[in-house]
Amino acid sequence: MSESMSPGFQMLAQIVRDQSGIVLTADKSYLVESRLRPVARKYNFVSVEALAESLRAWRDAIKISDVVDAMTTNESFFFRDNYPFHALRERLLPRLAKARAEARRLRIWSAAAASGQEAYSIAMLLREWSPALDGWAMEIVGTDISGEMIARARAGLYAQHEIERGLSLALREKYFQRCGDKWQISEALRRMIRFERHNLLHDNAALGTFDVVFCRNVLIYFDLPTKARVLGTIARMIPGDGYLILGGAETILGITEAFKPAPGVAGVYAPVR
Ligand SMILES: C[S@@+](CC[C@H](N)C(=O)[O-])C[C@H]1O[C@@H](n2cnc3c(N)ncnc32)[C@H](O)[C@@H]1O
Repeated sequence: MSESMSPGFQMLAQIVRDQSGIVLTADKSYLVESRLRPVARKYNFVSVEALAESLRAWRDAIKISDVVDAMTTNESFFFRDNYPFHALRERLLPRLAKARAEARRLRIWSAAAASGQEAYSIAMLLREWSPALDGWAMEIVGTDISGEMIARARAGLYAQHEIERGLSLALREKYFQRCGDKWQISEALRRMIRFERHNLLHDNAALGTFDVVFCRNVLIYFDLPTKARVLGTIARMIPGDGYLILGGAETILGITEAFKPAPGVAGVYAPVR
């Protein structure tokens, strides 16, 4: 497919945008070509253009799901960017431990979980912090639009290079076991997390409410109205004293008034009530 907007590229970009919110501009045509070549091969098409042509004619839901899956960028690593986890441990958990002292219940959402490192980082952090949360009902929900990523997250199996990104030796020793040439996260941590396939563009309400939502490094792929819409729905899922954490390159400023900066915690937001 050429750098210009060929009809095939336009068709595929439109499908991906409608289904996931991910915007593919013309300069991404190389990415579309390289990521969709295996999908085209899987369905015996001679080219990505031929795959696009078939989708134009048939709109096959399974092929569309494979196309969207292939066009997601799933990079993640343990304790990514550090500061959100520092903020969670030092600022948010102490406040929430007080505010929820009676209910003794905490729910945290990793809203674009990819292969699970963010959710498992949260689980390790809660475990390490746990004296104050002993006996609490703690649930972490990890969701992603990609079925392949959710399967990987559930398995909790990581290659050597993934385990080396962001994870201290002490935490690796404590929470991972060798499994062939990979490392698997402990059963106890896996039991703390429910991983589900979920599209942020769809109705999020069925997931319930969350004290803290990590929605990191996914809004960057959306256009402005989609960012605003997704943030609006997330705001309704967080109680007035709960928190939203975005990725380092993401902000609410100029996008939504549903959130405001949380007092005294950089990069963390609170819903406006
Ligand atoms: C770069 S990863 C971010 C992973 C993790 N939050 C982090 O910051 O390390 C972005 C993830 O967003 C997911 N994603 C993209 N569009 C989505 C949508 N509409 N609904 C849910 N997840 C989506 C992708 O499948 C991908 O796994």
